Amino acid sequence: MRLAVLTSGGDAPGMNGAIRAVARTAFARGWEVLGVRNGYQGLLENDLVPLRDRAVGGILHRGGTVLGTARSPEFTKPEGQRRALGNLSAAGVEGLVVIGGEGSLTGALRLSELGLRTAGIPGTIDNDVPATDMAIGVDTALNTALEAIDRIKDTASSHQRAHVVEVMGRHCGYLALMGAIAGGAEAVLVPEFTPDPQGIVESLVRSYAKGKPHFIVVVAEGASVSAEELHEYINRTPGAFESRLTVLGHVQRGGNPLAYDRILSGRLGAAAVEALADGDSGVMVGTAGRNVARVPLSEVAGGPRPLDPQVYSLARTLAGLSPDEHAP
Ligand code: F6P
Repeated sequence: MRLAVLTSGGDAPGMNGAIRAVARTAFARGWEVLGVRNGYQGLLENDLVPLRDRAVGGILHRGGTVLGTARSPEFTKPEGQRRALGNLSAAGVEGLVVIGGEGSLTGALRLSELGLRTAGIPGTIDNDVPATDMAIGVDTALNTALEAIDRIKDTASSHQRAHVVEVMGRHCGYLALMGAIAGGAEAVLVPEFTPDPQGIVESLVRSYAKGKPHFIVVVAEGASVSAEELHEYINRTPGAFESRLTVLGHVQRGGNPLAYDRILSGRLGAAAVEALADGDSGVMVGTAGRNVARVPLSEVAGGPRPLDPQVYSLARTLAGLSPDEHAP
């Protein structure tokens, strides 16, 4: 069997481990593997390279994706999908593994509907892919954001300041919420739940009056009140901490994958090839508790994955921002 593998959408630490696992599991079955460069765009441009054993050596620990990635508006159209399929058939490809986020996995679903055997692997720092507990890259990005929050807290305490920290996640608040819990932030704003900037500022004023040395707010980039708006609001509030704003941005996407993502990439990469070997198609391999599970890609398309309200509530409790504290 001749298999192709591609990475698509925003890169995520651990994608290289997934490419390696896909290739090595396929080699173990005697299959050939082609790497598609730059995601679906590369598929449209027929940019396919044979992957030999050494091509996937020495990449497990490296961030980014050695195959390159892209966002391809052309591929989202049926005409683009048919052309991509034509290029794959001309190259003798019988199966495709797609490593990416929800949009990229929707692309894999479309190709499977056109008759190609496909398997998807969730790879995105956002953790917005439905039907999996974790995507490859999330844990490393979260730890990168956490390290930044810890550092910011040091300087915040020294200067008795508020700091508003914007983290990535597109429409999903997972990174912000988990970063806030792990970083012991005083407040968190996520797209999934209505923000209460006034309540946050009231709590901040009380914290300042009580002599608390810092006030850290983690804001998801997709929150309906932006990090910048909250930062300015705090600075317009008399008798409160002065605020500084930090946008973590793409620093969260880079860096060597941590152990969790390396192991996850190995497990999911192998599972994707096994799914195709079993004759499955149009499936994503993801995590369900301690297990790897196969789910239909139709359950993945149309996300995003919801955020657990209990975890959001926990973040508020741990931060001392419970509703009672806001009562007049
Ligand atoms: O999907 C991953 C992600 O990093 C999002 O968190 C962010 O909104 C987006 O990609 C940024 O995309 P780009 O790198 O194209 O600016």
